[in-house]
Amino acid sequence: MMYITKSMSFSASHRLHNPELSDEENLEIYDKCNNPNGHGHNYKLEVTVVGMPNEKIGYVIDLKLLKKIIEDEVVSHVDHKHLNFDVEFLKDIIPSVENLAKAFWKRLDGKIPDVKLYSIKLYETETSWVEYFGEKENV
Ligand code: NI
Repeated sequence: MMYITKSMSFSASHRLHNPELSDEENLEIYDKCNNPNGHGHNYKLEVTVVGMPNEKIGYVIDLKLLKKIIEDEVVSHVDHKHLNFDVEFLKDIIPSVENLAKAFWKRLDGKIPDVKLYSIKLYETETSWVEYFGEKENV
């Protein structure tokens, strides 16, 4: 099997806030990320799929196609948006990098022909990221 990755980036704002908690608790947990008017990040999204190269073509997947699917399903919905308010598929979730990776997985899983989605790596900053492998057992 071969694992192939497409990397894309987007910029978005968000606020980490749980309405079930008090303002004081939110501030204690999320600190600067609880800023009432939000704050921004330049996110980097890496989508890895797994499959075998097509013998005639030599590709696991055409990376132009993978890029288009990521653009259509995820990036076009979140780029230059406020993740708490502007994105239908993120409604009612706290837009932490963990929850975003999970939501992006749901958008992409099953939409990519001939390969399986293997992982989603989402960088919130250059030094902080999450890697998600779906709800697989034996992780
Ligand atoms: Ni943040």
